[in-house]
Amino acid sequence: MVEITAKSRCVVRPPVKWAGGKSRLLPQLEPLFPDKADCLVEPFVGGGAVFFHLQPPGAVLMDSNPELVNFYLVLRDEPDLLLADLKKHRNTIRYYYRLRSVNPGALTCVQRASRFLYLNKTAYNGLWRVNSRGLHNVPYGYYKNPRIVDEENLRGVHLLLKNATIMLADFSRVLEIAAPGMFVYMDPPYHPLSKTASFTAYTAGSFDEGEQCRLAGVFRELDRRGCRLMLSNSDTPFIRELYRGYEIKVVTARRVINCRPDRRGPVTELVIRNYDG
Ligand SMILES: C[S@@+](CC[C@H](N)C(=O)[O-])C[C@H]1O[C@@H](n2cnc3c(N)ncnc32)[C@H](O)[C@@H]1O
Repeated sequence: MVEITAKSRCVVRPPVKWAGGKSRLLPQLEPLFPDKADCLVEPFVGGGAVFFHLQPPGAVLMDSNPELVNFYLVLRDEPDLLLADLKKHRNTIRYYYRLRSVNPGALTCVQRASRFLYLNKTAYNGLWRVNSRGLHNVPYGYYKNPRIVDEENLRGVHLLLKNATIMLADFSRVLEIAAPGMFVYMDPPYHPLSKTASFTAYTAGSFDEGEQCRLAGVFRELDRRGCRLMLSNSDTPFIRELYRGYEIKVVTARRVINCRPDRRGPVTELVIRNYDG
């Protein structure tokens, strides 16, 4: 067993801003992580706040967003080419919309990763949101000095990713790698608090109640296989019912992504675990 502790961690920030990112919640999550684990598995890695915080010696990072996963793969395998391409971008409205309209399928992997990070840094609210056809549809952000190339942090991220297996995959594929002792942190798109309050547009598909039930089934199967499990979700009766029988802790979060400022106040969220401590 390898320890996950704060001893030898370096300061590396998540390289992208991501809806539902867990950076602000880390002080509340920290006491809930297991002391020891063989390996960290994140089936919904997103911006990777937990991975970059824990910096485990081994990890499997999965997500169903092809642009995000391509970015991590390129940063892990071709950091110099990526940094060189990133330095070519310009922060103007014309350039932004021109690059946004480019079909990522027509680009090299490095160009795609570079376009992804550029749009993440210069789009309104730093959002990555796609329409039903999978096309990025966030307007230009008008930021004066967006940090498109934070070379020092990107090099730190590259070093951490070198120990990680990175997969473009549906969360259910975690069952292919699950082994006793693994720590699996699951941070899916949240069950909406109301019919209009959801943000699940990370990818072209939607994450509805059927998906939440499918995820709960995977959670129970991983539990049977002896993995240590921690899952974040919204505090709704549906989610509490879905994970009845497991330990449920309440944490307080500040919701950032809501177009109405009056709906950005604190909300409670659930952390569901199959272990104590
Ligand atoms: C709440 S975000 C994760 C945030 C992350 N923990 C962070 O700190 O930035 C949810 C992620 O799940 C991914 N996702 C959505 N549906 C998925 C699926 N079926 N399988 C795997 N990943 C999925 C989205 O692309 C998104 O990155």
